[in-house]
Amino acid sequence: MSRRWLAERKREPYHRMAKEQGYRSRAAFKLLQLDQKYGFFKGARYVLDVGAAPGGWLQVASEAVDPDGLVVGVDIMRIESLEVENVRTIVADILEEKTVETIREMFPGRVDVVLSDLAPNVSGVWDLDQYRQIELARAALNLAKTLLKPRGWFVVKVFQGSEYDAFLKELRKDFGFVKIEKPKASRKESAETYVLCTN
Ligand SMILES: C[S@@+](CC[C@H](N)C(=O)[O-])C[C@H]1O[C@@H](n2cnc3c(N)ncnc32)[C@H](O)[C@@H]1O
Repeated sequence: MSRRWLAERKREPYHRMAKEQGYRSRAAFKLLQLDQKYGFFKGARYVLDVGAAPGGWLQVASEAVDPDGLVVGVDIMRIESLEVENVRTIVADILEEKTVETIREMFPGRVDVVLSDLAPNVSGVWDLDQYRQIELARAALNLAKTLLKPRGWFVVKVFQGSEYDAFLKELRKDFGFVKIEKPKASRKESAETYVLCTN
């Protein structure tokens, strides 16, 4: 049995659970597990989710916020409508400067939680993929700094690699509370971690 096959099989419970529970992606469970530990959705009304397609995290956020709140999902890919009142989605590139303004105009005020599960299309060249992922995470940090309320939460996926420590340093400069997590639903062999920031 190949390692890959075994890894796939290990991952399978989350695929099955996502199907059974009507989530669009197994990634939904990562967000559920992180929120279970940190409770960042508690009292949240406005949530921004960047790199949101196909919409698993949007489903979780939509269930977690006030019904009269708003969750905005942004991706370069079109996100099929969730058909719930409190979610709006747009197609936009997070690396384009004008996207910040477009997003800001969608919210009536400051945002409680900024979520980023952004990841580039993997090229297979690890250094390049890691570099591009950190570039995306930095763009998300810029959004968080512009849009978050005081004491708001920033939850960001970060690939471990040569830029990792430098990026963590940046996060620690901007937030008083910074924790690194690897939720159970994240594959052990993947280099992704999630960093939770507030204050
Ligand atoms: C791991 S997926 C997100 C999965 C999502 N959290 C869910 O639960 O369904 C990462 C997403 O980042 C998006 N992405 C990559 N580069 C982007 C960019 N420059 N601007 C916006 N989205 C981007 C990809 O299109 C992809 O849909």
